[in-house]
Amino acid sequence: MNIPTPHIGVSQQGIVAKTVLMPGDPLRAKFIADTFLEDAVQFNNIRGMLGFTGTYKGKKISVMGSGMGMPSIGIYSFELFQFYGVENIIRIGSCGAYTDELELYDVILATDAYSESAYAKVQSGSEDDVMLPSPELNEKLEGFAKELEIELHKCRIHSNDVFYNGQEGYFEMVRDKHGCKAVEMESFALFANAKATGKKAACLLTVSDSLVTHKVTTAEERQNAFTEMMKIALEMAE
Ligand code: HPA
Repeated sequence: MNIPTPHIGVSQQGIVAKTVLMPGDPLRAKFIADTFLEDAVQFNNIRGMLGFTGTYKGKKISVMGSGMGMPSIGIYSFELFQFYGVENIIRIGSCGAYTDELELYDVILATDAYSESAYAKVQSGSEDDVMLPSPELNEKLEGFAKELEIELHKCRIHSNDVFYNGQEGYFEMVRDKHGCKAVEMESFALFANAKATGKKAACLLTVSDSLVTHKVTTAEERQNAFTEMMKIALEMAE
């Protein structure tokens, strides 16, 4: 396939940086570009899935929305990896806590992602129900967090296909049986695509709600708290 792809509108190679940060919300991508990037250029607006490239501390980086769920991040991350020369994608998202060891606004670095999703099986015939991030990216992100004095909680996450789960006891089962401490809806597919294309991916998450304590954050609080996670990921610019 040539560029532009069906879902990313830019036809010039090199407009997307080697490293792309992917929040779920395209407006958060715009917030990051407006707040942290210099000379930001918008490279995508198909379906409103905004993407920007600019510089952070003088180094090039892109940021683009992934949308919600594995089919959505699956499409965008695959096209970035396969057709736009992207080497590294770092998801920067929100998650729900499955344990009271995690507080609202804690920042998580995913050590791996468990899922019931058929994404990896359909994509590349993989029977694995756990997908891994790049150890190299995780090591770098840990180093940046340390330099910025931001505490990172390293744990396995659950990439869930269903936000409005109607089954009693479901999250406790996933937590206790599979060791997941938090839930989101994208990383398993992102990691599967990185594996399938020979590229690298990682995931930082900020706790936005707790399935245990039922505490939630407001949209405004989230915007502020999430800047910690963004600052760690932005250090990946090169
Ligand atoms: N479930 C799934 N994804 C999420 C959640 C949740 O509770 N919170 C933030 N992302």
